[in-house]
Amino acid sequence: MFSLVLFILLFCNSQALAGSLNDEGYALLTFKQSIREDPEGSLNDWNYSDGNPCSWNGIACKEQKVVSVSIPKKKLSGFLSSSLGLLSELRHVNLRNNKLSGNLPSQLFNSLGIQSLVLYGNSFSGPIPSEIGNLKYLQNLDLSQNLFNGSLPASLIQCKRLKTLDLSQNNFTGSLPEGFGTNLVSLEKLDLSFNKFDGSIPSDFGNLSSLQGTLDLSHNSFSGSIPASLGSLPEKVYIDLTYNNLSGPIPQNGALMNRGPTAFIGNPLLCGPPLKSPCSDSSGASSPSSNPYLPSNYTPQSDNNVNGGRKSGGLSKSAVIAIVASDVVGICLIGLLFSYCYSRVCSCGKCKDENGNDHEKGGKGRKECLCFKKDESETLSENVEQYDLVPLDPQVAFDLDELLKASAFVLGKSGIGIVYKVVLEDGLTLAVRRLGEGGSQRFKEFQTEVEAIGKLRHPNIVTLRAYYWSVDEKLLIYDYIPNGNLATAIHGGGGTVAFTPLSWSVRLKIMKGIAKGLVYLHEYSPKKYVHGDLKPNNILLGQNMEPHISDFGLGRLANIAGGSPTLQSRRVASEKSQQKHQSTGSFEAATVSSTTNVGSCYQAPEALKVLKPSQKWDVYSYGVILLEMITGRSTIVLVGTLEMDIVRWIQLCIEEKKPLSDVLDPHLAQDDADKEEEIIAVLKIALACIQTNPERRPTMRHVSETLDRLNLSSG
Ligand SMILES: *[C@@H]1O[C@H](CO)[C@@H](O)[C@H](O)[C@H]1NC(C)=O
Ligand SMILES: *[C@@H]1O[C@H](CO)[C@@H](O)[C@H](O)[C@H]1NC(C)=O
Ligand SMILES: *[C@@H]1O[C@H](CO)[C@@H](O)[C@H](O)[C@H]1NC(C)=O
Ligand SMILES: *[C@@H]1O[C@H](CO)[C@@H](O)[C@H](O)[C@H]1NC(C)=O
Ligand SMILES: *[C@@H]1O[C@H](CO)[C@@H](O)[C@H](O)[C@H]1NC(C)=O
Ligand SMILES: *[C@@H]1O[C@H](CO)[C@@H](O)[C@H](O)[C@H]1NC(C)=O
Repeated sequence: MFSLVLFILLFCNSQALAGSLNDEGYALLTFKQSIREDPEGSLNDWNYSDGNPCSWNGIACKEQKVVSVSIPKKKLSGFLSSSLGLLSELRHVNLRNNKLSGNLPSQLFNSLGIQSLVLYGNSFSGPIPSEIGNLKYLQNLDLSQNLFNGSLPASLIQCKRLKTLDLSQNNFTGSLPEGFGTNLVSLEKLDLSFNKFDGSIPSDFGNLSSLQGTLDLSHNSFSGSIPASLGSLPEKVYIDLTYNNLSGPIPQNGALMNRGPTAFIGNPLLCGPPLKSPCSDSSGASSPSSNPYLPSNYTPQSDNNVNGGRKSGGLSKSAVIAIVASDVVGICLIGLLFSYCYSRVCSCGKCKDENGNDHEKGGKGRKECLCFKKDESETLSENVEQYDLVPLDPQVAFDLDELLKASAFVLGKSGIGIVYKVVLEDGLTLAVRRLGEGGSQRFKEFQTEVEAIGKLRHPNIVTLRAYYWSVDEKLLIYDYIPNGNLATAIHGGGGTVAFTPLSWSVRLKIMKGIAKGLVYLHEYSPKKYVHGDLKPNNILLGQNMEPHISDFGLGRLANIAGGSPTLQSRRVASEKSQQKHQSTGSFEAATVSSTTNVGSCYQAPEALKVLKPSQKWDVYSYGVILLEMITGRSTIVLVGTLEMDIVRWIQLCIEEKKPLSDVLDPHLAQDDADKEEEIIAVLKIALACIQTNPERRPTMRHVSETLDRLNLSSG
């Protein structure tokens, strides 16, 4: 009975409303009135002729109530009206990249259900109202790139569900509220960089155990010492403390341990490792020489860091030779034992060439529907908000429109997506890689991964400048490296240009550069990375033939993006080949192998069996590349009618005591005869790197130092 009455009431009510706007519509029109300019006419269909505003541009409803107001990047100027606070079911507000100004009205926070408030890239000013503490469901607060000032309200710590807090590039002052770390424990992303926060870093920051990516406190005025509790953050979190006023020694525990100096520069009063300034009053425990990870004169920019290892006691030349000599014996034995299995795996896998595979679209169903369904998904709002180019570098001065308008030509189809060369109007040239579609639920993972890669800066690593994510398109935007890749430089096959073999000195320079890039990845980069897919196709050559390692982390990104049918087929292939050859542990290995170069001769033998990627995998791949550069052979060598992988072949040559000239690239033999000693030394390094036992392979740092010394002694 009751429900019947209610129904009649509702029915009559809605009849009465037909043709005239409901309350929420009026609230939105009040919002529209506070917008001074709308040059693109984004709000043109917001008018009185509708009964309800759910069809209006930028509005999404659930059960006829407005849940989302999303009008990003429309050059709107004016103020943010407090009338949005009248929308009782409002969940998502996204007005990023407009020209809105003025204060945040405290009445906005009457909408108690707000989960995400994204206002970055406007000109809002003034403080954050303390009423923000009313938002118990707030998960995503992004106010970056505005002119907000004042200190953070203490009530902010009541927003205990906050996952993303980005306040970077404002004018905030004061210290962080008490209890920040103990209350906001759900935080996954915290960026306070480029403000004027002062006071000490709260020691309870260590309780932010869900953090991912970078904890960015850089470019503020934080002072005092670095709390040791920061070390209890998850180990994968990169802590950026640069350009503050911090002082004292850097605690060496947990997430703070073994970081390079780059996380701490710009704090003149910090001391001890990994910085070179010693702590004047502290004990010997913190003297710089005790830190194995930092040659004191290391700078990320110095390409030719010949003296890099001078102090740190690397192997002497004779020691290396001794090790190499004993290892050659090792190769013969272990190598022989292993070569049976290995050569079968390798020749069956036929060193799959990345270029061999076509990139097919997986004819999958259309992108997810962009309307709010009965359960609103948390990820949806993020997807909605991320339809834009995300710069990873302050120097990125182009936007998506420019990128899409630019002239592009296909550079190549590799196993993972298509790569384009793109020339912008102002002449800037970029390389853009298209990953597949799909993976729309995994934006966060993708973002964390891609932003970590974007932090890498080394002259021998290709820089990732920006990325773009939407449901059906994912782009990675890199520096363009002009001189092709190393595979072409060694073997020719560039097509148009006549093949000029590289001289020995250029080869040596390339070898050194690759080694330096790998040392950076392994030891100095924010996380201690493994490339996992190193091969000549992935090494690009710059203007002066300096090498740039590319495609770092690509396998993982493509996996997250999920739309790479080639990856899948490679994985299936690996499963098959493993079923043939080995019956133990093959299925586990297959999960890792989808991120590495399965079936490739550059892949370390243990990578088929061991789950955890190891830096020694890269050392092996590097060794194979050295062999290729010394011998000029491809990774499959034809001996009579027998196909043999290059590692097996070189081992055979050594067993049979072949003269060097049989092994050497014929192009080298004539001009560079006087370099014989150097070439043999490099060959020994290569042999050490391709040891079957990963423990016995040298680290990249030792390799790099040995190469550098080699140059000195011969020059
Ligand atoms: C009101 O919006 C509708 C679309 O929703 C549009 O067709 C109509 O022209 C608009 N009226 C005015 C007066 O702008
Ligand atoms: C914030 O900036 C405004 C002017 O932009 C100024 O009047 C006000 O004093 C500032 N507030 C604080 C706390 O610095
Ligand atoms: C920040 O505030 C200072 C004064 O406290 C002012 O001089 C400066 O221009 C402000 N910066 C921005 C970006 O608003
Ligand atoms: C915060 O972390 C410290 C140690 O790291 C621990 O003792 C304390 O209980 C934690 N507090 C909360 C509220 O989790
Ligand atoms: C930095 O901190 C020291 C004390 O540790 C203080 O004396 C100095 O004034 C601070 N400098 C700035 C620029 O805030
Ligand atoms: C090292 O070798 C490069 C070429 O391989 C040469 O240009 C450079 O001068 C050498 N450096 C020293 C210190 O011998």
